Amino acid sequence: MELEVYNEIKRSVKRILDLDLENYKDEQMRRRLDSWLVRSGSLDWNSYFQRVAEDPKEKSKFRDYLTINVSAFFRDPERWKSLAELVLPDLLREAKARSPMNDGLQIWSAGCSIGAEPYTLLILLDEVAPHRRHQVLATDFDQGALKKAIQGGPYSADEIQNLTPAQRNTYLNAGGPPYYVKTSFSKKIVFQQHNLFADPFPKNLDLIVCRNVVIYFTADAKDKLYRQFNAALRPGGVLFIGATEIIPRPQEFGFKNFGISFYKKVQS
Ligand SMILES: C[S@@+](CC[C@H](N)C(=O)[O-])C[C@H]1O[C@@H](n2cnc3c(N)ncnc32)[C@H](O)[C@@H]1O
Repeated sequence: MELEVYNEIKRSVKRILDLDLENYKDEQMRRRLDSWLVRSGSLDWNSYFQRVAEDPKEKSKFRDYLTINVSAFFRDPERWKSLAELVLPDLLREAKARSPMNDGLQIWSAGCSIGAEPYTLLILLDEVAPHRRHQVLATDFDQGALKKAIQGGPYSADEIQNLTPAQRNTYLNAGGPPYYVKTSFSKKIVFQQHNLFADPFPKNLDLIVCRNVVIYFTADAKDKLYRQFNAALRPGGVLFIGATEIIPRPQEFGFKNFGISFYKKVQS
């Protein structure tokens, strides 16, 4: 795709979808757009954008495509094990010391996709620290993914394959595939549409889980987000990132790395 065409597409996507593609890696996005146009059956981008402008369903499909939303329960299980063993005990102890009567954790799953990530968090919290009033906020830009998250499914066998038989019994409805999370459980999460590049961030969080989201963003966009994540955490709070991700020079953003995938906000 020619640069001029890409620039034109970026302007249209910003206007129609309110999504700024400047923040996404160029090469990858251009390849994805090329293949989407072919799949759409439209002859050129002008006619495709006309279709998007006239058809809300197509608009939603296009937005969902641009924001890749592959996910699974306990994705990279070793990292979740580390969260439970290395990170949660300290956070829980600090929360109790701060306020014995209100000792739940404030958690944000940023870029939660289809909900598998915040449900994983809730399962761990239920196993590690039941009877505490945790608050889990889960957000994503992609409305299609959020709809599935809010409904608690349908999830495929692949998406739930890392759940143990006991976890399936406790947290999923009987039957399946497809699988659904029990409503009594899914109601415990607050889901919201949120654009990381445009909307305000929550505050005073103990833990932010943002995994496999920024890998699609430019270096500048990532740097900006790490600063915003740092500001959203309380001192001592933790940012949990994807298994293949790393924050170079974490101290520049007010973080200290500990263990693979975990960054603690430095007390200032
Ligand atoms: C590959 S999924 C990761 C899902 C989950 N965190 C995980 O690790 O399994 C990336 C998610 O980032 C979301 N995303 C992409 N751009 C976003 C933006 N600007 N604001 C909020 N979410 C965004 C996508 O919609 C998608 O659901």
